[in-house]
Amino acid sequence: MFFSRFCKLGVHAIRNLEKSATLTVRTSYTPKAHNQYLGSLRNKFFCSTAPKASSEQKNEDKETINVTFCDKDGEETHIKVPIGMSMLEAAHENDIELEGACEGSLACSTCHVIVMDVDHYNKLSEPTDEENDMLDLAFGLSETSRLGCQIIAKPELDGLRLAIPAATRNFAVDGFKPKPH
Ligand code: FES
Repeated sequence: MFFSRFCKLGVHAIRNLEKSATLTVRTSYTPKAHNQYLGSLRNKFFCSTAPKASSEQKNEDKETINVTFCDKDGEETHIKVPIGMSMLEAAHENDIELEGACEGSLACSTCHVIVMDVDHYNKLSEPTDEENDMLDLAFGLSETSRLGCQIIAKPELDGLRLAIPAATRNFAVDGFKPKPH
């Protein structure tokens, strides 16, 4: 008697378990749930970061120009310069040896660079009198010489090539004092 009741209880318990398992499977694995699950996987692994990254790359390209610095040994360094940044700042940010003793305050000629392409030279804004005064004192002055701190990156200057002269003249170190005009 006791044994048969025990068996019935066991069978009942097993049926209940089967039912709940079936229910669980039915409720959690509907096509809709399946699609939601796939959707979340898609978001997780294939979310829209790739197109965003490429559009960010395009924006970055639009906001920078390509500039090449050529040192006294002829070695070239290609960098990207943000629009609005001076060539002196860009050189310093990229560990290019362009001196810039007065840090862009037009009191030296140590940031002297030679624009290698006349077309680019003609696209630069006119030098101020102060810049011309400093350029007159620069070592190895050429027709397309400018001060690096006065060349500001703008879209038309994309592809700019700048040669760094073999030497600079630093008034502070050399003891030179420019005459007042
Ligand atoms: Fe001195 Fe450019 S850093 S004039």
